[in-house]
Amino acid sequence: MKILVVGGGGREHAIIKKIKENKSVTEIFALPGNGGIASDATCVGIGVKEIDKIVDFAVENKIDYAIVSQDDPLVLGAVDALNAKGIACFGPDKKAAIIEGSKVFSKNLMKKYGIPTAEYMAFTDKDSALKYLDTCKIPVVVKADGLALGKGVIIAETVEQAKDAVISMMEDKVFGESGSNVVIEEFLTGPEVSVLAFTDGKTVVPMVSSMDHKRAKDFDKGLNTGGMGTVAPNPCYTAEVALRAEKEIFIPTINAMVSEGRPFKGCLYFGLMITKEGPKVIEYNCRFGDPETQVVLPLLKTDLFTVMQATTHGTLDKINVEFSTDSACCVILASNGYPEKYQTGYEIKIDSDFNGEIFVAGAKLDNGVLKTSGGRVVGVTAVDKNLETAIEKAYKLTDKVNFENKYKRNDIGKKALSIKENLK
Ligand code: AMP
Ligand code: GLY
Repeated sequence: MKILVVGGGGREHAIIKKIKENKSVTEIFALPGNGGIASDATCVGIGVKEIDKIVDFAVENKIDYAIVSQDDPLVLGAVDALNAKGIACFGPDKKAAIIEGSKVFSKNLMKKYGIPTAEYMAFTDKDSALKYLDTCKIPVVVKADGLALGKGVIIAETVEQAKDAVISMMEDKVFGESGSNVVIEEFLTGPEVSVLAFTDGKTVVPMVSSMDHKRAKDFDKGLNTGGMGTVAPNPCYTAEVALRAEKEIFIPTINAMVSEGRPFKGCLYFGLMITKEGPKVIEYNCRFGDPETQVVLPLLKTDLFTVMQATTHGTLDKINVEFSTDSACCVILASNGYPEKYQTGYEIKIDSDFNGEIFVAGAKLDNGVLKTSGGRVVGVTAVDKNLETAIEKAYKLTDKVNFENKYKRNDIGKKALSIKENLK
């Protein structure tokens, strides 16, 4: 089968490496892919938002199955456009992808169906939002409605800061149309857990839990990034929490989407906070998380391509999806300065005795030489019997991949380890 993957980050590299294990997968194209993905797939320079070109490419190349794994093309309706040409896809259609594409939609959905989340108000008008802020408890969270590269969430410590955030989103349009509407919500506290789940619209199969590290600097300091590292499983996600999350959040969400005439097929990402009252939804994403995928998929024992096809064909209840009981740690090697200004174009050297998984995100091939081209350059993942040793192994791997300007956090997994200690 000829497969098309729409995306070009570390997450897509992890997906591609995993689907290659299926014998029926004979050829993989990545649009646009990247310099590292080029070792595992044929990369073609078509951007993820160029829906017409993606569809033309898929038709011309007789693609059998497409995997759309990035938020923008999903929200823009890439799956609908491919389906219209008879190409089966992994990923939600436009109607279902709105669960990530609009925070106002997702908050209203949760309110309507009683799914636990932070209290909130949604605004289409700046003056009402500013007036409401005078009545809010501090800290307060201001969120742009639409996609904003993970930067559309401001945790304001003062009313002034919150008002500035509203003005920059609604008046100065720093996130373009994504900030035309805003959500103002209650600040929740507690550890965070990412749970990715396969769903065919009827059955929901949660994958092993994970913990992202979103801030740029050690001990959760510095700016928010796309994610600087992950561990799986997440020790906060105890069997008791998992049971509640499934009953109070996962199943009600899948059913709510059906009731709204928007059945969700693909991977639904639940960003949860474990509060004193129990798990609550911080955000939904309509896709695999990045870099959560880089620790979750290495632990998947069942064939990924088979599971993906079952989500498309509505047969997820017929298969048994199994995960290893090992642990995994992924450390992102970034360009120093990310997520602000940074230099790229440096050769990436990988030692010949590198013995883990490497997922390439921001790199290009320059005359056959792999060079840095982005903020997050590669993720290295180690799998081992327990969290401690997986973290240790992952950090050893980071020394075996080198480029000028290399930057990493040095505390990936530390918080998870201390939570694990406290649970004993
Ligand atoms: P999001 O892009 O919605 O995942 O938000 C980014 C980060 O902001 C989350 O991972 C949380 O750490 C934090 N955050 C978002 N909403 C809230 C909230 N209501 N209370 C506390 N922290 C939040
Ligand atoms: N790691 C967070 C995300 O994929 O949105």
